[in-house]
Amino acid sequence: MIKTVILASGKGSNAKKILECQKLGKLPNIEIVALISDKEDANALKIAKEFGVKSVYLDPMRKGAFFSEEGAKFYLENLEFLCADFIVLAGFMRILPPSITSKYANKIINLHPSLLPSFKGKDAIKQAFDCGVKITGCTVHFVNDELDGGKIIDQKAVEIMPEDTLESLEEKVHAAEHVLLPSVIAKIGEGKIPLGK
Ligand code: GAR
Repeated sequence: MIKTVILASGKGSNAKKILECQKLGKLPNIEIVALISDKEDANALKIAKEFGVKSVYLDPMRKGAFFSEEGAKFYLENLEFLCADFIVLAGFMRILPPSITSKYANKIINLHPSLLPSFKGKDAIKQAFDCGVKITGCTVHFVNDELDGGKIIDQKAVEIMPEDTLESLEEKVHAAEHVLLPSVIAKIGEGKIPLGK
């Protein structure tokens, strides 16, 4: 079994989808050992608990997008303690420190709400909407030291129609994410996408 840790900061709709898929037996060889959040009140923590998955708040010990040195050490120690083989960033709004990205090179995947390399960083759906592109979507990629810059694993496109509002586009991108992320995790479980290569 691939010991998998989910990192999430917010609502947790993607974490929920992963946990639902696992419950339905759609993620062979994937064992979700914990969900970790950098936000004490993240809904994602409640969702994991509902699924009977260990859910832990870990203090990154710094405000903003980065970790303090101590916080980075704390996260690494916990991932090691959990014997994580594979880490899924499902709406995790912090930039992982090099100590973690190098230890887990090509073993961490991130979900991003745009067709990378377009619209990196924050508010990617709004960036695409404001820019007026006709097609956007979502991406799952391996995490390296460059923000939203690691090797792309898979993408799902979403068409922006003239009648779309930012809200309707957000719904469409989230719906695409809920299909894309579990499908990538399933392929990893099946060994179709190798980890650590
Ligand atoms: C998702 O749209 C995900 O792509 C995005 O956060 C949202 C989390 O939603 N991630 C990023 O923007 C990372 N740069 P959720 O909490 O409902 O799963």
